[in-house]
Amino acid sequence: MTDFDKLFAAASAARARAHAPYSNYAVGAALLADDGNIYSGCNVENAAFPEGWCAETTAIGQMVMGGAKRIVRAVVVASRIDSERVPGGRFCTPCGGCRQRLSEFAASPATEIWAADPDGASQRFTMAELLPAGFVLEE
Ligand code: THU
Repeated sequence: MTDFDKLFAAASAARARAHAPYSNYAVGAALLADDGNIYSGCNVENAAFPEGWCAETTAIGQMVMGGAKRIVRAVVVASRIDSERVPGGRFCTPCGGCRQRLSEFAASPATEIWAADPDGASQRFTMAELLPAGFVLEE
């Protein structure tokens, strides 16, 4: 199994746990961390809409609590759950806030973040492609 296959499987399992009754858009994210473990998470929505959060954010919380420091590779799997998916539809790339959160922990600007659909079709991005000129607190 390749890293992608393992991450895809973990992200798909996380997506099955999505709490997305408002958007009907289920997302799972899986992070291969520098400790060799895979951390995953789903989106968790709320009746007070802005209080919900993304799958990537859940996964990052899991990674930090697991004691890992860096993201080596990531896969995000997403699709609507209430309707037939349109083949060839666009992939779920991380939202702006999650790009900043991923960038906080990405091992390097070349860290790969894959956006996939539930069938495994995917598109690869680097952290730098997703967040060029990202914010870093001046030291
Ligand atoms: N969502 C994610 O979990 N990750 C993303 O990268 C984009 C959007 C979630 C948030 C919300 O629960 C649903 O997808 C629709 O926006």
